[in-house]
Amino acid sequence: MKKITACITGVCGWVPDYVLTNQELEKMVDTTDEWITTRTGIKERRILKGEGLGTSFMAVKAAKDLLAKKKIDPLEIDAIICATATPDMPFPAMACTVADKLGAKNAFSFDLMAACSGFLYALVTGSKFIEAGGYKKILIIGADKMSSIIDYTNRETCVIFGDGAGAVLLEPNTEGFGIIDSILKTDGAGCEFLHMKAGGSIKPASIETVNAREHFVYQNGNPVFKAAITNMADVSAEIMEKNNLAGKDIAWLVPHQANKRIIDATAKRMGLDDSKVMLNIQKYGNTTNGTIPLCLWEWEKQLHKGDNLILAAFGAGFSWGAIYVKWQYNS
Ligand code: UT7
Repeated sequence: MKKITACITGVCGWVPDYVLTNQELEKMVDTTDEWITTRTGIKERRILKGEGLGTSFMAVKAAKDLLAKKKIDPLEIDAIICATATPDMPFPAMACTVADKLGAKNAFSFDLMAACSGFLYALVTGSKFIEAGGYKKILIIGADKMSSIIDYTNRETCVIFGDGAGAVLLEPNTEGFGIIDSILKTDGAGCEFLHMKAGGSIKPASIETVNAREHFVYQNGNPVFKAAITNMADVSAEIMEKNNLAGKDIAWLVPHQANKRIIDATAKRMGLDDSKVMLNIQKYGNTTNGTIPLCLWEWEKQLHKGDNLILAAFGAGFSWGAIYVKWQYNS
């Protein structure tokens, strides 16, 4: 029997209309367009406005567009995995709401939290269900409403993040396409540099935690930057070496969009020039779990059957990883 691999057979993304520019941020905190652009590569980001709209709103938009594009009945979906750091509520899993809104009544659904590496972790998790043989259609969604956990008085974090969602469909393949290999890593010692101080079981929400602004992203940027620049490049080089791939064999690097300087260092290490790097950080900033599927969505028409892609990410945890994908279709 031929080996089953899990293939991405479709992708869609969704971002809110509201554009928060560097110029608008200049009026909110002590920053400049020049600082943000040179240090991060970001020019603007999207923000989800509207009472009662959470991350699932964007996840459902992306997933609905994908089902329509693929002409798939929601009842055919076997499972939904939502990678998110900003679920609608601490519990239940946001994926349950997404399944309900899609009408995916036959799907089991759960969230996966690995911060900015979540989409990669979810993709690998979903691929294992497919490879095991019992599941035919799995939705992997990466979505975050980062604006819900960002302190817009803190210039160190508010310039970086944005809101957005992307969804891919995973299906089985027996011709050697799809997710060929993956390396996922974690180092919990990195927690101290990037976390949310309150709202979890160590420090539940209280008047004091709200007043101390502890329900927002805390980041000590420089140690995170140093770990990201080393580890994202290392893991990308490692997966290439493991699969006997040189720079010339890679069609696209699909990097997590946290900082253009981290992406540039990863591409350099892989021996890739800019023309092979998906980059949309200037438009969307860091959408956490949304970055990689949003890239795939925007570049889908330029992808060809047989293209070798390296997906790579680094984020809180620390968590990081790389996936080698042999693309399955021409659009
Ligand atoms: O996706 C999740 C993982 N996260 C990441 O990968 C993020 C990794 N870190 C980074 O991308 C960078 O560390 C940042 C973009 C967050 C910061 O860039 P940096 O080059 O590491 O700057 P820094 O934190 O060392 O700060 C340099 C200076 C400081 O001022 P002093 O102490 O030198 O006077 C900061 O206070 O820049 C200042 N600064 C700002 N200035 C203007 C920090 N944020 C801003 C700002 N505007 N928005």
